[in-house]
Parts: sequence; C-alpha cells; structure tokens
Amino acid sequence: MEISVKAPAKINLTLDVLHKRDDGYHELEMVMTSIDLADRIDLVSTSQPSVRLRSTSGFVPQDERNLAYRAAALLKENYDVKPGVFITIHKHIPVAAGLAGGSSDAAATLIGLNKLWNLGLTLDELVELGAQIGSDVPYCVHAGTALVRGRGERLMPISSPPACWVVLAKPEHGVSTAEVFQKFEQVSPDNSPDTKAMVAALEQGDFSGICASLGNVLEDVTLKSYPTVGRIKDKMKEFGAEGVLMSGSGPTVFGLVRQEARARRIVNGLRGFCRHVYMVRMLGQLDQNRTK
Ligand code: C5P
Repeated sequence: MEISVKAPAKINLTLDVLHKRDDGYHELEMVMTSIDLADRIDLVSTSQPSVRLRSTSGFVPQDERNLAYRAAALLKENYDVKPGVFITIHKHIPVAAGLAGGSSDAAATLIGLNKLWNLGLTLDELVELGAQIGSDVPYCVHAGTALVRGRGERLMPISSPPACWVVLAKPEHGVSTAEVFQKFEQVSPDNSPDTKAMVAALEQGDFSGICASLGNVLEDVTLKSYPTVGRIKDKMKEFGAEGVLMSGSGPTVFGLVRQEARARRIVNGLRGFCRHVYMVRMLGQLDQNRTK
C-alpha cells in the first residue's frame, strides 16, 4: 500500500511577536498562506514495524531529527500501529529557509498515514498532534490561508489572496529559527505589522492593500546578521515587485507581483546575483484531500 501527499511551502504575509511566554516560546500573531512550491512525500506501509526515511536532498536529516520521521513515530506510538512505513521525501522546498519545508513534510506525513493506516483522525486531531512536533506543523496540516496565533497552534481560516505570482530568492545560507527568536529581545509595537489591515485587505481581495500591509518583526533581526537579505529586498523592489518581505525567520525574501511578464523580469534580474530564485503561483485554499 502506497500513498503520495503534496507538502506545500508557506509564506508569512505578516509575523508579529506579542510577548515572550513563561514556557520560553513567543506568543505570535501571523497571517500565513500556501504557495505552489511543494515537496512530495511518498509513504509505503511495511510489515516490518520500523520507520525508515530517505530524502532526495542531502541537506535534511534521514533519522529521528527529521520532522516527518517524528510524525510517523508519534502516530505509531499514540495509536499502537503495528506496520512500519518507508517515507521518501522528494525535496523541492529549500531547507532552513523560512518556508516551513520540514514542518510541511511532517504535516503531509500525518495526513497520509492517517489515510494509509485507517486511523480515522479528524483534521482538528491532526492539528493537535502537529503541535507536538513543531510550532509550524499545525498550520501546515491546515494549509491555505490562516490567521495563526499562540505558539502556532491556534488557527483561523481567512480569505486567500487574489491570484498572483510569488518570486522567491534565498541567500546561500540557512537560518536557525531558535537563534533568531533568541536574538529578538525587544517587542516594540512601532514596527509591528497591522494584522487587522492585512485580514481586511484579504477579505476585500485588495492586492495593493495586501502589499501595503506586509510586515515581519523578525526581519530586522535576520537583516542585522545577514545583510544579503536586505540587498535582495532592495533588488526585488528595484526590479518592480509590488510587495516585498522576508518570510518567517528568513532568510528567504518574497515579492508579490500581479503580472507574469513582470515576475519573469524580476527573476531574470535576481538570477544575476542569487542562485536560488523561484517563481510560483499563490496557492490560495488547498484541497484538503491532497493525497494520491
Ligand atoms: O516549535 P519549533 O521547534 O519549530 O520552534 C523552533 C524554535 O523557535 C523554538 O525552539 C523556539 O526557540 C522558537 N519559537 C519561539 N516561539 C514560537 C515558535 C518558535 O520562540 N512561537
């Protein structure tokens, strides 16, 4: 028995840190949306009881450090599943990039194994399990466009952005989310994004309003350590992206563009000095039945 699941990347249209919590995590408020840049997860149920994993990318761990591995192990343990699984991750989303690639692989593994092993878990139950794996996993189980709060586990579906192009550029280095949060000390309301304005712009399908409301309080932290991020932002704007922001804890920068021809021009311009450049569509809402 085999199943394939799509694991799309996300971008943050907003990311705000409200305060540091007693458990060491940060209380967040973010608007996230799925983009059409995805890994594919193949799951094969095996009579041998172990979890095994391989990835087409050398940059991801192939053992219990991998979040998809942890998702399978968690399901096996919680629901006393006898069969094992062989997980293959066809990696397309850049690693340690602020695009939730690892979290999305874990979410897709939860969704796929729920089906493959006939566990009958609801989406809400999968979201809850996701929170035990990592802060971005609950959103990735849900995918689509959502207002995300708490540590990342409180989700409210909201309207998706209108169809547009997303140009992504990732500097060579990856970024550690834990390190960025550690360096983020001061919660200053001055540079907080206007989350309400973003939600309203999405409701109205107001592309310019969405571009004007993009904001991420972690941007300054990553920019200080990696000036390349700032240079990529400047170039994207100069080449004509209508809205530009760093996603998550970075270092990937994205630009929103309405017209395909303009998006292509931006890609060509960026390729001159950045090796990892992508041009994808905004995905909007995701079909919950994303298995094959
Ligand atoms: O939950 P996850 O392991 O993905 O988070 C990675 C790191 O990011 C955490 O160890 C923590 O340092 C930081 N983090 C945080 N507040 C959140 C989410 C993540 O401080 N809401």
